[in-house]
Parts: sequence; structure tokens; C-alpha cells
Amino acid sequence: MAKVFVPRESEAGETRVAATPETVRGFVKAGFDVVVEHDAGASAGFTNAEFEEAGAKIGYELGEADLVLCIRPLEPEACGKLKPGAIVIGSLQPTVHTNSVQALANAKATSFGLELVPRITRAQKMDILSSQATAAGYQAVLMAAAHLPKFFPLLMTAAGTIKPARVFILGAGVAGLQAIATARRLGAVVEANDVRSAAAEQVESLGAKFVDTGTPPQAETTGGYAKETTHEYLMKQREILTKHVSDADVVITTALIPGRKAPVIVTADMVKAMHPGSVIVDLAVAAGGNVEGSVAGKIVDVGGVKIIGEPNLPSLVGTDASRMWARNVLDFVKPMFKEGGGLEPDWEDEVLLASVVTRDGQIVHEGAKQAQQSSKDASQ
Ligand code: NAI
Repeated sequence: MAKVFVPRESEAGETRVAATPETVRGFVKAGFDVVVEHDAGASAGFTNAEFEEAGAKIGYELGEADLVLCIRPLEPEACGKLKPGAIVIGSLQPTVHTNSVQALANAKATSFGLELVPRITRAQKMDILSSQATAAGYQAVLMAAAHLPKFFPLLMTAAGTIKPARVFILGAGVAGLQAIATARRLGAVVEANDVRSAAAEQVESLGAKFVDTGTPPQAETTGGYAKETTHEYLMKQREILTKHVSDADVVITTALIPGRKAPVIVTADMVKAMHPGSVIVDLAVAAGGNVEGSVAGKIVDVGGVKIIGEPNLPSLVGTDASRMWARNVLDFVKPMFKEGGGLEPDWEDEVLLASVVTRDGQIVHEGAKQAQQSSKDASQ
């Protein structure tokens, strides 16, 4: 019987797990043996007993697994233990984790980076970028609310009227839209900006005001992502946004450009102009940051303004972020299920072709190949 193994994540601060009791049931029903590492789900709130009830065994069988489900890239040493032909599925970040990718190829493992799944309608249910951005956008607002020395909603009390908090969201993609919805539910007055013109309608449909900074030429890729803007556009955008940022109690930045450093939109001068007590959450911090002065893993105080640089917001809602991730994984794997058990990838499927990183001992992902070459050149 084919075997699925779910390791416990080792990175500090990572609470998520790539399978839940619910998705374990799905694998067991399809004829797989499932082995979950001891306490793999503990920090996400899933107990060993719950995994066992779902039909999993608790143990460590990385080397015997046909399918390994992880959140973060496996360490190169762990990759070396895989058996040839094993399939690894997780967020592999092949342009960054070049040693792990090489180790996967050396082990003759087939690996898929879920973050590389194309954003087509059929693959929406497999899209970890969207599910985890939803968790991040939600959690960013709660963190901001917890640090803000003000209420979010308008309150009319015997002690007088309290004005609602003003929240400004920069970047209205999946995370930004969820942040808008969450801040609105808490009663804040919300404004948002994006370079994509389609975002205006989505922002307004959630009850927020769109701050228009114009659409730069060729703002979008065919896949719906933002492109890097010109320096002139960035300068004009900063000028328009300065007042909106300084008027805000909370600023949440989510502006990303796939494969590039995030644009710095909120400058140190804009931070200085904010009122002490205000809070900024920089969701782009792991990609270099949208806010001058934000630091990954730290809360920086600039003249009483807190800049929160939490790099792993989904882990702070680890139970539901894991539920969503695990469902994304199961939906990704389902088309590979073979009658009577086992896995058979369909190599004509565009979703698999876009997300495969290593196969038959080779690194096949273009970006990963280039990253390998660059790291070899740098070490020479
Ligand atoms: P993302 O995480 O790459 O970027 C976040 C947001 O920042 C985007 O809305 C982007 O336009 C914005 N941004 C980038 N540079 C900016 C700048 N200089 N100033 C202001 N805003 C800036 O994007 P995300 O959230 O992954 O979504 C990108 C697009 O993909 C959206 O149109 C979304 O609706 C679409 N999408 C489509 C899916 C599908 O399956 N069809 C699934 C998920 C998203």
C-alpha cells in the first residue's frame, strides 16, 4: 500500500501542519497508509489521538514514504533520506532553497511547489497563496487592533462618543481584501489603494474607499499580478498616499510583485508624519518590505509608531490556516490517485507542469535551474 508521511515542521515559529485529521481520512479512503510524525499537529491544535482516530499511525517513516506532505521546504539532510520516486509536496521556494532542491534531485524525488500552482479557475481549490493570504490579511488586522490604543468601532456611550479607527490598506489582492473585510467587521473606516484598476470595484464592494493613484502603464501581467512600476509612478503614488497614511491609525501593507523585491511605498518621512500610537503591519516584510524601517520578526518603534514585521502571520491562526492548506494539498493530489491505491501524475496536466520542481533526478523548474546556476557561480 502506498504510504503518505507528514513530518513535524522544524522551523521556529511555524505552527502549521500539511495534513489534518479531515484530510487524513481522505487519503485513507483512497487506499493510502498514512503516518504522521509525533506531535506534527500539536501547535496547530490537532492531537496525535485525533490523527489516529482518522486512521493514521503516529511514527517517523520519511524513508519509506511514497508521498511526503510538508509546509516548509525539507532540509537537504531529510531530502537525502527519501526513496527514489517519492513525491514531495509543499511550499518549496526553489529559487531560495537551492540546497534542498538539489538534494531532492539527487534523491530522485519528484517534487511540487504548491506556491507555483497557476492561478487558473480549476486550480483555485489548490491555491495555497490565496488560502494563506486570507489568513495573513485577517491576522494582520487583529494584531493591529491589539496594539492600537484605540477602539476600532464607533462607540456611543455615556462617557461620550468615540470615533472609529481609520485603517489604510495598501495593496488590495487576496490579503488586502481580507484585511479590508476584517477591519470593516470591527467597525473601522477603511481606505485602500492598488495599482490594478480592477481592485477599485472590489475595494468598494467591501465598504471601503478606493484611493486612486492612477494605473501605471501595463500595470498587470496576463496572470493578474502587478508589475513593477516606474520610478515616476512610485513618486506620484507616495505623494498622493502621504496624507492618507498620516491620517490613518492603522496602515496594513500587502503590495507584492511576484519574483521581485517588494516596492517601498511608505517612506520614513511618511511614518514620521503618523500620530504616535499608530500601528503599521508590513505583510511584505519577508519580500523586503513596503515600509522603510520594517524588520522581519520585530516590532520597531519609530517615534511612538509601531511597525510590525511579523513574517509568518498564517502561523498565528495555525489551526484554520492548516485546515485550508491541507485541503489545498488533498485537492492537488486527488487527480493523481490511481484506481486501487498509489499515485500516477498526469504529465500533460498544466497544473503539474507549472509546479513540478524536480523529476527523475533533474531540476526541471526554470527559475530553480537559474537559481542553482547563480548560486554555483557565486561560490566559484
Ligand atoms: P500579490 O500578493 O502578488 O500582491 C498583493 C497586491 O499588491 C496585488 O493586488 C497587487 O496589485 C498589489 N500591488 C503590487 N504593487 C503595488 C504597488 N506598487 N502599489 C499598490 N499595490 C501594489 O497578489 P495576490 O493577492 O496574490 O493577487 C493578485 C491577483 O491575482 C489579483 O487580481 C487576484 O484577484 C488574482 N487571483 C486570482 C486567482 C485565480 O485563481 N484566478 C486566485 C487568487 C488571486
